[in-house]
Amino acid sequence: MDNWEKAAKISAQARDYGKGLCKEGAKHLDIAEKVEAKIRELGGKPSFPVDISVNNMAAHASPFPNDTKVLLKGDIVKLDLGAHIDGFVTDTEITVEIGTNKHAKLIKAAEDALQAAIDVVKPGVKLCQIGAAVEDVITSAGFNPIRNLSGHGVDMWTVHTAPTIPNFDNGDQTKLEEGQHIAIEPFATDGEGFVKDGKPSGIFGLINLKPVRLDSARRMIAHLQEEYKTLPFSGRWVQHLQNANFVLRYLEKEGVIRQYPELPEKTGGLVSQKEHTLEVGKGVLTT
Ligand code: CO
Repeated sequence: MDNWEKAAKISAQARDYGKGLCKEGAKHLDIAEKVEAKIRELGGKPSFPVDISVNNMAAHASPFPNDTKVLLKGDIVKLDLGAHIDGFVTDTEITVEIGTNKHAKLIKAAEDALQAAIDVVKPGVKLCQIGAAVEDVITSAGFNPIRNLSGHGVDMWTVHTAPTIPNFDNGDQTKLEEGQHIAIEPFATDGEGFVKDGKPSGIFGLINLKPVRLDSARRMIAHLQEEYKTLPFSGRWVQHLQNANFVLRYLEKEGVIRQYPELPEKTGGLVSQKEHTLEVGKGVLTT
C-alpha cells in the first residue's frame, strides 16, 4: 500500500467511526474532536478540520472551541473529513439523517450520483462526462446538484487543486489521466442548487507568509508552517498558543491567514452529499 492508500483507509475508518457518533443529542464539538483523534490514533493527521454541516449548510461548518451545538432529531448531517500521511491528502464525506427517515431520497440521490460518477471515471474520460453523470442522477431523482461546489484534485499538502470535477455538465473537455488523485463530491438539494458565503467558519488557512511585528503572531506562524503547511486548520487546534484568538484575528487582518466562510445553500434548501477519493485507473481509495 502506498501513502495515498494508507491515508485513504484511515479516512474511511474515521468516517465510519464518526457515522456511529452522529446521534440525537451528540455535541458537534465532541464528534469533531473524536473523529480527529481517531485519525491520529490510526497514524494519520487531519487533512482539514472535521466539518459537521447540518441541513441547509452544504459545507465548511466546523465546531468552534466552545461550541455547544447538539445534533437534533431530523438533522441532515454532512460529516466531511480526511486524513493525510506526510502530506498525501485524502478526503471523504457521508450524510446521515438523525433519528428520522424523511429524506432518504435526498441522501440516496447524492450516493447514486457519486456511484454513477465513479462508474465513468477512467483515463481519458472528459470532466464534463463526470458532471453529466452526476447531474443526470440528481435531476432524475427530482433534486438539483449544487453547481458552484465541485470535486477536485488532491495533491501533496493540498486539499483542492486541479482538476475541478463538476457536479453538472459544464462542457469541460479536459481529460482525466492515469494516476491522478481526485475527490468526487456530488451535492443534492431541494433548493436552487447554489451555495453562498455564510458566516466565518473557524477554519483557517495560511495564505501569505509576510513578516509581522507581534512575537506571539510569529510563533503562531512558525507553528502553522511546521504542522499544517498550506492545509486548512481549526481555531480549536491552536488554543494552546499564547493569546490564540487575538493572534488569529490579528493574522487574519494582516492577510497572513484567511478564514473560510460557511457555505449555506442560497435558497435554504436541504443538502445531502457523498464523497470519495479515487486514483484514476485504480478506483476508489476511501472504502
Ligand atoms: Co472534497
